[in-house]
Amino acid sequence: MNLGFLAVVALLAVAPPAIKPQISISAPTTKASATKAVTVADALAAAPAAAPIDTVRFDGDVVVRVLIRSAQDLMLVNQLSDDMWSHHIGVGGEADFRMSQAGLDTLKKVGIPFRVMIPDLQNRIDAEQTRLAQPMEGLAWFSDFKNLTAVNARLDEMVAAFPNLVSIVNAGTSIQGRTIRGIRISRYPAGTALPAFIFTGTMHAREWASTMTTMWIADQFVESNTIDPRIAAVLDSAEVYVFPVQNPDGYEYTWATGGNRLWRKNRRLISGTTYGVDLNRNWSVGWGGSGSSGTTSNDTYRGTAAFSEPESVGMRDFVIAHPNLVGHIDFHSYSQLWLWPWSYTTTLSPDQTALAAVGIPMQTAIASINGKNYTAGPSGTTYGLTAGCIDDWTYGNQGLMAGTIEVRDTGTYGFVMPTSEILPNAKENFAAAMTMMEKLLASSPITITLAPGSVVADNTASTVEVQTVPVVSTLITNGVRLKWSLNGGAIQSAVMTSIGSNKYRASLPAITCASQLSWFVEAETKFIITHAPLNKPTSFNLTSTNPCFRPADLNFDGIVNSADLGLMLSSFGVCSVPTNCPADLDHNGEVNSADVGALLVEY
Ligand code: ARG
Ligand code: ZN
Repeated sequence: MNLGFLAVVALLAVAPPAIKPQISISAPTTKASATKAVTVADALAAAPAAAPIDTVRFDGDVVVRVLIRSAQDLMLVNQLSDDMWSHHIGVGGEADFRMSQAGLDTLKKVGIPFRVMIPDLQNRIDAEQTRLAQPMEGLAWFSDFKNLTAVNARLDEMVAAFPNLVSIVNAGTSIQGRTIRGIRISRYPAGTALPAFIFTGTMHAREWASTMTTMWIADQFVESNTIDPRIAAVLDSAEVYVFPVQNPDGYEYTWATGGNRLWRKNRRLISGTTYGVDLNRNWSVGWGGSGSSGTTSNDTYRGTAAFSEPESVGMRDFVIAHPNLVGHIDFHSYSQLWLWPWSYTTTLSPDQTALAAVGIPMQTAIASINGKNYTAGPSGTTYGLTAGCIDDWTYGNQGLMAGTIEVRDTGTYGFVMPTSEILPNAKENFAAAMTMMEKLLASSPITITLAPGSVVADNTASTVEVQTVPVVSTLITNGVRLKWSLNGGAIQSAVMTSIGSNKYRASLPAITCASQLSWFVEAETKFIITHAPLNKPTSFNLTSTNPCFRPADLNFDGIVNSADLGLMLSSFGVCSVPTNCPADLDHNGEVNSADVGALLVEY
């Protein structure tokens, strides 16, 4: 989620915000502690009163949705708030801001249209704290939000439960020295050249719903890897990487006593009391452009250079080290948006058609789960300009199908989402992830329309024909290729020639006696190469074996003559066990005229 309007804001050169989060220096009072008849529940509810005195608090703050009618409105609201919760394209629309009561009073006075979305922000944070302080034993993991320790423990549990399926991977180290941990889910050994997908969360620390969403994706792929046929099918031909927390320091800080529930950036100490670079403004594609800030205290501070932050370097290097990655979703909260490139410009990406071909079914899949509508489209025009985002890089620099999902809700709760929404939200976004994977894996399904049988004639080339109608994006030039290996040797490749009607043809080389030729066909589109047979690592499913002829001297007397011919004619017909039929010279399971022909050649 982000602080929008930055393009406009930057143009207007708005003065630095006047209002800062309030740091309370005395123990906070909660509603519960103020009631007179103290019950056990009250006592529990009062637990946050024990929070350390330096925790950043937001007593009295509200979150308001403001209608920005003019640049002047925007400038004013930015002076009343230093924490924009939602983003918007610009003047003429609405956006969410956290501000103090004083800010709210000013807003009323100047007559800017608004409505209060969250009247009691600190109460909600307190309630969340209270809830989280309760023992969680016996509760399902997704019944409440989980801190970094619990997330990491859960990843370790997945590995322990399915050691042949799950392994820990990491994407470097945060600025405070925490490992950026993820998991690899795959049925195949590391290094198998399979298409891979990566799902990332919690780049912005306060967006706890994104942590739970990515953990749910991991959980489903691990727990249901054999029982859900759709998951099983994906795991058959692809591998899945999940990094639930890309900003571990920031995430810890939103949970820590003494921390700030509404922290967004990483935890780089810039100077004095100024911390943090917005990791989603620190990537190189479009770095420094509109929708990012050069002001260190700003929530969208981009850093001193692209990849100035170890967290973005770590993720970048992980992606570079896995060139088989084909799809990426970065999960954020909130707003219910599904945004694909570009983010840094309103110009449509050259792959807009392909992105929409996957993106619109993803949007439909989300709605099919709980009926929730997510607005979908290119980020620059759907959301507003944001420069230096991860998905512009995974797409633009690495060629992945990529995008950002802003999960629930639409502002009623914002970052402090009720627990009842965790699973419904996770499930609808799992559907989006699943649809992306399935669409890409079936990007250009190949049907083999002509193929050699399992036995081919000696020294004769054989023809292969296929048909493929790409459904996601067009085939690249020379994108349909016949590949083969002779006797398990190096893979050879030939471009298949278009013969019309989406059909392609190429020849397998002639092979000599006792050789084995294994082959497959691949079709390359923008995001992925599909195979026939299937996208499996062991895709040499079809083998052509060319037999050696047996010696025609059936009676071993040193000469091929009428005696041998007589033996052959006496065993004419089908032989059920070919190896027991010496007269079946060509090993085709039948003693017939072809064998007679072969015998006469040796006469
Ligand atoms: N809320 C995100 C942010 O402000 C959205 C980024 C823009 N969209 C995107 N596809 N990267 O960082
Ligand atoms: Zn975000």
